[in-house]
Amino acid sequence: MTSHRSQFDTRRQLLKAGGAAACLGTLGVSGAVGAAARNRPILIEFSHVVSADTAKGRAALYFKALAEERTGGRVRVEVYPDSTLYKDREELEALRMGAVQMLAPSLSKLSALGIGDFEVFDLPFLFRDQAAFRSVAEGELGQRLLQRLVPLGLQGLAYWDNGFKVFTANRPIQAPADLRGLKVRVQASRTLVEQMRVLGAQASVSPLADVFESLKSGRLDGQENVPTNIHSQRLHEVQSHLSVTRHGYLAYAVLTNRQFWERLPLDIRGHLQAAMREATRFANQLAQADNHQALQRIAASGKVTVFTPQPQQLRQWREALAPVDASTRGWIDPQLVAAMRRAGAPPL
Ligand code: LMR
Repeated sequence: MTSHRSQFDTRRQLLKAGGAAACLGTLGVSGAVGAAARNRPILIEFSHVVSADTAKGRAALYFKALAEERTGGRVRVEVYPDSTLYKDREELEALRMGAVQMLAPSLSKLSALGIGDFEVFDLPFLFRDQAAFRSVAEGELGQRLLQRLVPLGLQGLAYWDNGFKVFTANRPIQAPADLRGLKVRVQASRTLVEQMRVLGAQASVSPLADVFESLKSGRLDGQENVPTNIHSQRLHEVQSHLSVTRHGYLAYAVLTNRQFWERLPLDIRGHLQAAMREATRFANQLAQADNHQALQRIAASGKVTVFTPQPQQLRQWREALAPVDASTRGWIDPQLVAAMRRAGAPPL
């Protein structure tokens, strides 16, 4: 981990110094493909911001095992979990520059690339269940959105599931009004900022890696995330209350640098695509059970009081958050919002 850290510091400095050329040249990334020709393994550095012990972390390791085995060692995959290489926003920049070859950022973070439509996934109470998210992601709406990454030099390889977010805070959160006046961390998404505004809270955008310290020091009062992230980042240890609102959805896009991808020998690309399909199934199977287990562990830790709203209380949350859709007209295509609402929660 220490060596990862020092590589990480060097790379961050390179990114700050700017210039794709500096980064590509110094790190020999475009050389990674050439290296295959010289019989050295092609290196895929896969960076992400959550613990290795989450569904995403484990799926990244599963992809590594499959990719290395299927290519008979012609590909080597290095997985860097927990922001050891890059934090949220830096990792997207690093991928575009070719300083890493794979990421799995949350969909909320993709609007930083200038595609506000990705924030459609952040709309409150969008998906009835995990299956609804998956059919949207794998269907035409999801695939069309991935295509929008191509002109930016990125290639979307898959969607990986996570699950429903809950709120935590340093006071009881039962009704929407309980969040009023609190400073709450959200991911970098205007839609999530808007969600907090309509609830009367103050949104604070920060990388996941900084949330624990901010909650501990009182700079933040609360946050929203899935139970696996809350548990693995130990956020429940610095919060007094958790409310199982399931008000929003967290999922990921696995991305690669398009130039890197297109320069891969065809047989290698085929093996990597197959490995990604299997890793995707693996990630999606793990996600729901892991979140269920993480919530049980959080409750059993005795560190927070867990509150589960009843259906009539959830109706209050839905009503309170209903205005968010209309506020996003400036950055999400309203037709996409309507199509996603139809697809995400079709009438039972
Ligand atoms: C967050 O920043 O809270 C999440 O996007 C982290 C993740 O990748 O699950």
